[in-house]
Parts: sequence; structure tokens; C-alpha cells
Amino acid sequence: MARVFSPFVILAFVFFVSAVTSNGPLQDFCVADLKSPVLVNGYPCKNPSSVSANDFYFGGLHLMGNTSNPFGSKVTPVYVTQLPGLNTLGIALARVDFAPWGINPPHTHPRATEIMTVLEGSLEVGFITSNPENRHITRVLCKGDVFVFPVNLVHYQRNNGNTNAIAISALSSQNPGVNPIANVIFGAKPDIAPDILAKTFQTTEEDVRNLQEKF
Ligand SMILES: *[C@@H]1O[C@H](CO)[C@@H](O)[C@H](O)[C@H]1NC(C)=O
Repeated sequence: MARVFSPFVILAFVFFVSAVTSNGPLQDFCVADLKSPVLVNGYPCKNPSSVSANDFYFGGLHLMGNTSNPFGSKVTPVYVTQLPGLNTLGIALARVDFAPWGINPPHTHPRATEIMTVLEGSLEVGFITSNPENRHITRVLCKGDVFVFPVNLVHYQRNNGNTNAIAISALSSQNPGVNPIANVIFGAKPDIAPDILAKTFQTTEEDVRNLQEKF
């Protein structure tokens, strides 16, 4: 037994465990093969020898998103499906455009913390801590200000002015995911039973059905 647990064996075992449990990439890159039929956590890698600069490139983030919608905002994502070189790297970007007084309604990102920089205009932003406090942490941001929304917490933004606003967000996942609260609750398909939501929100089933029609 003494031999088995020699310092060399222990050291080799520690290296082995740290290699197979590494959270980071195990190679320089793994450009997503978006068309592969193989289903894994992320995307399989393209053959590195067939990778080119375009796999690491996305153009067009200078273009304004179309905010002509009921919320008055538009997210332009640069996630792994838009930029395959992000695969396995745990990072992504988005541009968010806001019409005057437009909102990015309350939502969560199940897989990412978000750090947002205001490029133009002014935003009122906030997030809500988890139970039991449900503390609302909010403030107004101006051009050049940066704010962080911790992973999984409900958060929102509103353009706080009469001009367009622009923000760039970095996210700690190649595929952050989004749960817009209203869509998740009132837009689930098939519908969540109206009596369940009426009790949840302490309102009438009629109110619930009206909201379900909107989402
Ligand atoms: C913006 O979106 C609206 C609503 O979908 C559409 O009617 C309009 O044509 C779009 N504008 C542009 C410039 O694409």
C-alpha cells in the first residue's frame, strides 16, 4: 500500500483529475459545426484544418436594431449561432437598441451573467434578488456607464429619455438563453391552466385569459 500512495502516484492522479475535470477549453478552439447531427453540450468542432478567419468573425453590430415592436427595443445577438468560433469559450455579446422610453422587459439568462455598457442615451436598469428578500436594485445609467446583472436574476432596462439609446452587453456563455417572464408565464404552449395563474397572481381567470391572448 505504501508504494501505491507514493508522492509520484498521488501527483499523477491529481494531474489526471484536474485534466479530465477542466472547466476551460482543452484545445485552442472548437469552432461550432452548426450543421452536425451530433447532439452534445454545445456543438461539435469543425475540423481545425478547415477553419478560417470568418469562423471567428461577425459583422454588422454598428447597425441599429428594429425597435418597431410593442416593447420598443431590439436585441441583436452575437452568440455561438451567429459566431461559431465562440463554441466552448463561455462568452458572447449583444447589441441592445431602445426607442425613446422603450423597455427590455423583465427576463433572466439561465446560463450567463451580463455586463452592460451604455453607448448612447440613458437607461434605467434593475435586477431583483432571490427570495426571501426580493430586493430591487436599480439605478439610472448614462453614456459610458457599466452595470452588471448577476447570472439568473430577473432584470430589465428602460430607455430613460426622448432619444434612442444603445447598449452593448457581454455575457458569460456562448448561449446565454433568455426567459422573458411574461412570455414564460402567459405565453407557455400549451397554456398553463388559467385557474393556476389566477391564484398565483391573486386575480381573475378573465384577467389571465386576456394576458394569455397577448403572449
Ligand atoms: C421594422 O419592423 C416592423 C414590424 O415588424 C416592420 O413593419 C418594418 O418594416 C421594419 N422596418 C425595417 C426598416 O425593417
